[in-house]
Amino acid sequence: MSQTRHVPVMLQRCLDLLAPALEAPGPQPPVVVDCTLGLGGHSEALLSAFPTARLIALDRDKEALRLSGERLAPYGDRATLVHAVYDELPEVLDRLGVPKVQGILFDLGVSSMQLDEADRGFAYAQDAPLDMRMDQTTGIGAAEVLNTYPPGELVRILRAYGEEKQAKRIVSAVVREREKEPFSNSARLVELIRDSLPQAAKRTGGNPAKRTFQALRIEVNGELTVLERAIPAAVRSLAVGGRIAVLSYHSLEDRLVKQVFRGAELPTEEEVAENRRAAPARLRGAQRIREEER
Ligand SMILES: C[S@@+](CC[C@H](N)C(=O)[O-])C[C@H]1O[C@@H](n2cnc3c(N)ncnc32)[C@H](O)[C@@H]1O
Repeated sequence: MSQTRHVPVMLQRCLDLLAPALEAPGPQPPVVVDCTLGLGGHSEALLSAFPTARLIALDRDKEALRLSGERLAPYGDRATLVHAVYDELPEVLDRLGVPKVQGILFDLGVSSMQLDEADRGFAYAQDAPLDMRMDQTTGIGAAEVLNTYPPGELVRILRAYGEEKQAKRIVSAVVREREKEPFSNSARLVELIRDSLPQAAKRTGGNPAKRTFQALRIEVNGELTVLERAIPAAVRSLAVGGRIAVLSYHSLEDRLVKQVFRGAELPTEEEVAENRRAAPARLRGAQRIREEER
């Protein structure tokens, strides 16, 4: 278990950013949505910092919902946890009879729990089944992507989602090997990537499998496609005066968020020293100032 497991990234800044919308007096208690519940660190802080607020929290990972359900149980019916992909937010709010909300938070990517549970297959440092689905009840895992996608499609994914310069070389090796025996575990893939790269490429950028794993994870979970739909949908769900905060961890996510709102804030040096996961974080926030134009 990593030590960072329970340290929510840029927590105080997220609370400060949302505070004006959640503390403003109104006819109803304010509603705040945590679109990425995870282990419930941000959610718990929202419930405790804004005692009148009601929380709706989403996650596509049932294990995350189970663990956070226990953690947030003391808050009773102030917290509603929903198994959903975050681009389904408008439907979730409809079902709950909530027309607009005052605050929304996204803390993108995988949770430290998902990285730490070796059998989920997210981590290249441990041998595990190549799964990488955040929602293990649906969709195809990373092994099936590797074993069945046409080579051209794999090259595109490694380049676009992993920014992997050696994509062609890695994919040729994968295709050669999968014909002998389909991939099932991460260690074989990590070894293959290491063996297929030229010496110079191995010396830069940490573990040479990192970019391929990121690419497979993004593909398996449709992460960028979902995010591209989710941010504008979330903005539409905000009441006037409502605020949204998004924490992203790599340039591909941040680019999509930036298309919708621009200003960003970085973690402090102290925070990065305490929590390595915060190092690449970018926090972007926006406030809704008027109704949608028709
Ligand atoms: C970085 S973690 C959130 C950690 C959380 N803020 C905390 O303090 O514990 C991201 C979580 O979002 C979930 N997630 C990622 N993409 C999602 C999506 N498209 N829809 C719903 N949940 C998603 C993951 O399953 C993971 O549990």
